[in-house]
Amino acid sequence: MSGFVVAIDGPAASGKGTLARRLAAALGLAYLDTGLLYRATARRLLDAGADPADENAAATAAVALLPEDLDRSDLRSPAVDRAASLVSAVPAVRAALLAFQRGFAAAHGAVLDGRDIGTVVFPDAPVKLFLTASLPTRAERRWRELAARGYHVSRAEVEADLAARDAADAARAIAPLQAAADAITLDTTTLDADAAFARALALVRSRMAARADRFA
Ligand code: CDP
Repeated sequence: MSGFVVAIDGPAASGKGTLARRLAAALGLAYLDTGLLYRATARRLLDAGADPADENAAATAAVALLPEDLDRSDLRSPAVDRAASLVSAVPAVRAALLAFQRGFAAAHGAVLDGRDIGTVVFPDAPVKLFLTASLPTRAERRWRELAARGYHVSRAEVEADLAARDAADAARAIAPLQAAADAITLDTTTLDADAAFARALALVRSRMAARADRFA
């Protein structure tokens, strides 16, 4: 049996990372935050003084990514948020990052979160979750995260940035943000992290049991 994949997609700041990390720990699976790949590509462009809208420069940066680029502590600034959304719409960037994502989960399975995990990267994943929350709720969460990291922006600005990024991610021609037809939507507007985790874990365990029956 190939590795068990849990695909988690959804709009910005919907709680994907927190949930994915906890699920991976509970299930003994590796975790990949695929947004970091786009953020690290954007970071390389910004560092080089290149225009994040320059498609050739973006593709070159994606091909040149190194594992240690994902460990940088400056991948979550508002400037990187915007640049990551721009580079993620470039087909050559997505193509360059696809093999790494598939390879990451191939042997032992993994939990991956992003925008196109259930639709493009792992369309056959046995568990697909689509995480959402209202825009004001997501903006409040992200505003708190940014403040804790020392980025002082207004809530209104955070909300406007999230809305713009979601709209761009959903409207792009390649691998747009959308729920896979067989994804289960989890709205976390009124769920705290523990409640979202409990629901998701129950769902994953029932899918794992069904799959084990099928392969028994
Ligand atoms: O943490 P947050 O939800 O704000 O964003 P992220 O998951 O780190 O993703 C940053 C950006 O990368 C997104 O706005 C998307 O434009 C892009 N992305 C993507 O296109 N496909 C993915 N699988 C993951 C991220």
